[in-house]
Amino acid sequence: MDKLIIEGARKLHGEIRISGAKNAALPLIAATLLTPGWHVIHNVPDLRDTRTILALLESLGAVWKRKGDALTINTETVNNLEASYDLVKTMRASILVLGPLVARMGKARVSLPGGCAIGARPIDFHLQGLTKMGARLDLEDGYVNAFVDNYLSGAHIYFDVPSVTGTENILMASVLAKGITVIKNAAREPEVGNLVDMLIAMGADIEGKDTDRLIIHGVKSLKPAEVTTIPDRIETGTYLVAVGAAGGEATLTNCNPNHLPALTEKLRAAGLIIKESESSIFVSRPSKVQSIDIKTLPYPGFPTDLQAQLMVLMTVSNGLSVITETIFENRFMHVAELKRMGAEIRINGNSAIVKGIKQLKGAQVMATDLRASASLVVAGLAAKGVTEISRIYHLERGYEDMVGKLRALGARVHKEKE
Ligand code: EPU
Repeated sequence: MDKLIIEGARKLHGEIRISGAKNAALPLIAATLLTPGWHVIHNVPDLRDTRTILALLESLGAVWKRKGDALTINTETVNNLEASYDLVKTMRASILVLGPLVARMGKARVSLPGGCAIGARPIDFHLQGLTKMGARLDLEDGYVNAFVDNYLSGAHIYFDVPSVTGTENILMASVLAKGITVIKNAAREPEVGNLVDMLIAMGADIEGKDTDRLIIHGVKSLKPAEVTTIPDRIETGTYLVAVGAAGGEATLTNCNPNHLPALTEKLRAAGLIIKESESSIFVSRPSKVQSIDIKTLPYPGFPTDLQAQLMVLMTVSNGLSVITETIFENRFMHVAELKRMGAEIRINGNSAIVKGIKQLKGAQVMATDLRASASLVVAGLAAKGVTEISRIYHLERGYEDMVGKLRALGARVHKEKE
């Protein structure tokens, strides 16, 4: 296992290119299962999670090749309809193959993902939606077996809370269904919009992109498509916060500032200078960070995937900050590690009360999940002395070439074998 060593308290300066979004690439790759043929997806980040979903597609019989950031996937050869526990357990998003397999093949067997570090994360919305569309589901030996007699039928599906992968799974299931499907209280995350664009390019008929009401008129057939993955808004946000916490100034290119409405407003309120252009963001920290409160919410609210990183910024702010997590019940695992670095944080229910201090101190810490790990990197960059982060395989799930990008900003960071 590798660990990351950071010599902190160095201001960051420079320019880096943001990669394609992990959480957009995963459903785009899954959507290729909807119709046989050669699909092309550009701007796909090379990450552990994208490799996992490609391994899953390969296990189903698909063939793929990568050239730079472009993936070509052939789904003509798909002949196995089982997503095994071994692959699903390493990445919950593997459940995204369920909708497309049932829609195209009329049956699928997909392992249930189980719990994960940030919470229980059920998939009941995915299963209830498919049932409403006429799929017969039974749970057996930790797997969900899904069958459709003739075809899926359009249905009205309401989510109690907007679920990102739930919306994506039902969208993919509905494009080939007979009749009209309406998804109410759908997730409005930009990654869902990217999938809608791909499905439309494949010949689907979908109204309501980027709204909480998606109307899908089922079509008889689809064709392969060539699409581009949107930039990773969470990677963008992580580097913006890193500059805020460590100081300095940087330009992030190939990103979409429109996808970070809540973060950029909050960073401005915290005293950072943020200048946005069409596809880049400049950030600098001219003075001490001001304390602000945040509450995570579905898009366009503040993303839960940036809560841990923003908390680090607040540990070095000039006052008290209240950070409330409303999406996942167990997403404060970074708090204990940040306290080892001198942070003053108290947890009260689903809120963390952070009292800003002058500077964090380097320490040995342990990564527990992807975004918690990213927050420890941000903390290490800001802290005086050396920070050693173990179990960094979590980071490799979601940040392409993080060490290279941080070095391009002048950070002293390297990997070592544990
Ligand atoms: N929920 C249910 N039942 C369901 C589905 C969701 O109760 O069937 C609840 C969840 O427990 C949660 C809320 O609904 O409280 C929202 O969860 P959602 O389904 O939107 O999460 P997800 O689709 O499993 C995606 C991202 C996560 C991100 C969340 C929230 C992907 C592959 N994953 O997860 O990304 O945190 O949306 O924005 O898109 C990450 O990248 O580190 C990550 C965890």
